[in-house]
Amino acid sequence: MAEEKKRYAVVTGANKGIGFGTVKQLASNGVTVVLTARDKKRGLEAVDKLKEFGLSDLVVFHQLDVTDPSSITSLADFVKTQFGKLDILVYLEI
Ligand SMILES: NC(=O)c1ccc[n+]([C@@H]2O[C@H](COP(=O)([O-])OP(=O)(O)OC[C@H]3O[C@@H](n4cnc5c(N)ncnc54)[C@H](OP(=O)(O)O)[C@@H]3O)[C@@H](O)[C@H]2O)c1
Repeated sequence: MAEEKKRYAVVTGANKGIGFGTVKQLASNGVTVVLTARDKKRGLEAVDKLKEFGLSDLVVFHQLDVTDPSSITSLADFVKTQFGKLDILVYLEI
């Protein structure tokens, strides 16, 4: 896909439940998704699960605890550095 047409998303609380399902749907539609979770092990296991669906190339993990400002800053820096933009933010109220 041409670089300018690529779309990028961040999903919070994405190691399970609605967040995980949302990552799967977005990646199935060609969106590059940052699967975030507060626990690195649970997040990476969730990315592994998406390998079964052939989606792991479109999904990257980054740690995020939405209650921790330093974690939010770290994610924002990651998105800016890696993608230079963010098209979709899925923030699930906890
Ligand atoms: N399921 C439904 O039918 C439904 C319907 C309407 C509304 N909702 C609401 O939608 C939200 C998600 O529901 P769900 O069923 O997907 O819940 P879930 O399966 O319990 O998943 C919640 C997710 O949020 C994460 N999380 C918790 N605290 C966090 C924090 N501080 N920073 C980042 N992530 C955090 C959890 O991570 P850990 O694994 O680390 O705990 C988990 O990945 C909830 O607020 C729920 O009340 C759900």
